[in-house]
Amino acid sequence: MRKKIIAGNWKMNYCVNKAEDFVEEIKDRINTDEVDVVLCPNFVSLDRVSEAIYDTNIKLGAQNVYFEDKGAYTGETSVDMLAAVGVKYCIVGHSERRQYFAETNEIVNKKAKKLLEKDVSPIVCVGETLEERESSKMFDVVKEQVEKSLDGIDKDMIAKKVVIAYEPIWAIGTGKTASAEQANEMCKYIRKVVSDMYDEKTAELVRIQYGGSVKPNNAKEILNMSDIDGALVGGASLTNDFVAIVNYD
Ligand code: PGA
Repeated sequence: MRKKIIAGNWKMNYCVNKAEDFVEEIKDRINTDEVDVVLCPNFVSLDRVSEAIYDTNIKLGAQNVYFEDKGAYTGETSVDMLAAVGVKYCIVGHSERRQYFAETNEIVNKKAKKLLEKDVSPIVCVGETLEERESSKMFDVVKEQVEKSLDGIDKDMIAKKVVIAYEPIWAIGTGKTASAEQANEMCKYIRKVVSDMYDEKTAELVRIQYGGSVKPNNAKEILNMSDIDGALVGGASLTNDFVAIVNYD
């Protein structure tokens, strides 16, 4: 049985005091071990949020990382720096980073490998644009993203540590959700890609989230689909809606 994982991606929202206040406000209601709950605040709030959740089951996640260990990389943050404040998960390859910061599959792959080297779980995001879906290229696009982003990663790591997030770009922040069937169809397809790359057992174990306008009113249907093992939540993770999503059942 794959344990569900629900992550809140706060993106570039909430300064440190607000981040801490918000966590204090909701933490008792999202503190569960039924599902893995991950909060991904901005870098400058990580330490404070880490302290706020230290006595809970809630895990800390980052939104980005650099793939070098240390050195002259102005403005970048290493995995060690993240791990030192308690980060257990890190989003890589979010479509906003691919789009605005030229993050390629190759860069995503390097980041994922570096995170795994240091025992932090990458949440590897993949997903097609509206144009790619409308021209029926979505399966090819997502296949390439999965293959290149996971290239060379050991199957044990895929089974135990890696999380894949399927986020169709046209559903992010738009209020348009993929239907539960569309989301499940792609998550199932991703599992097949993983099976072809590794084996069936690894594919059965890897956790695959859906992300894109997940809200309290659609969370249950999405999270009950056969191949969807969680949600990556943007906008709704900034409000009490996140409490309802975590408690979807
Ligand atoms: P959204 O964002 O829930 O606001 O659509 C999802 C994401 O970008 O991870």
